[in-house]
Amino acid sequence: MTVAITRKISPRFSECELTHIQREPIDLELARQQHASYTATLSALGCEVIELPEELSLPDSVFVEDTAFILPEVAVITRPGADSRKPETESIVQALTPYKTLLHLNAPATGDGGDVLVLGKNIYIGKSTRSNSAAVTQLQNLLAPYGYAVAQVELRDCLHLKSALTKVDEETVLINPNWVDTTNFKNLRWIEIDAAEPHAANCLPINGKILYPTAFPKTAAKLEAQGYALAQVDVSELAKAEGAVTCCSLIV
Ligand code: GLY
Repeated sequence: MTVAITRKISPRFSECELTHIQREPIDLELARQQHASYTATLSALGCEVIELPEELSLPDSVFVEDTAFILPEVAVITRPGADSRKPETESIVQALTPYKTLLHLNAPATGDGGDVLVLGKNIYIGKSTRSNSAAVTQLQNLLAPYGYAVAQVELRDCLHLKSALTKVDEETVLINPNWVDTTNFKNLRWIEIDAAEPHAANCLPINGKILYPTAFPKTAAKLEAQGYALAQVDVSELAKAEGAVTCCSLIV
């Protein structure tokens, strides 16, 4: 069974880090309702959801994706780039230990899981304000024994690599080509976001469906026209914290 690790929203959620969007008021109760719908949708898609308790003092801790990334062979515990987020990994180590052998990024490396895109044996790391070149070098050394090639990818105008593109299936990415150096992705099939929806490139394929925000109807229509079945969720309050659908779970 697919396991999805999530974490309840911190009471200090509105103090989240923001990098590329303006701060606006967040309705904490609505954010919690939306997050509950998100986890219910993961369950409906066949996941066993393991929901960690809220972290009172860690505003961004609902975005568990940034604390680790998971491969068939091992999981890598990251070292988040924002200092406010570094303590988020402690409880994730506990949560992942039953499932995977754990590898770790160490200083001076910093890396957020949102910058890590795994496509088969190729791993792409966004060169962002959060993820540095030392992380790429460490990951190359850690993961070469498992047959992975790790490459750094230039970004612009967005927080994470997975703000700019995400996997739809093994051959296909959903992409905003204005935010990422597309060189590494030329050999894949692209579904381009609608130009009016620049934040629309983040989707989460789960068990044959695509978990996708309700905020991007034009891009959703493009995905459906290509034959993909969507499970749509309203994550508008999470988006105000610069989060998206991949950010809120670790899929084991
Ligand atoms: N607020 C999400 C992040 O900056 O990591």
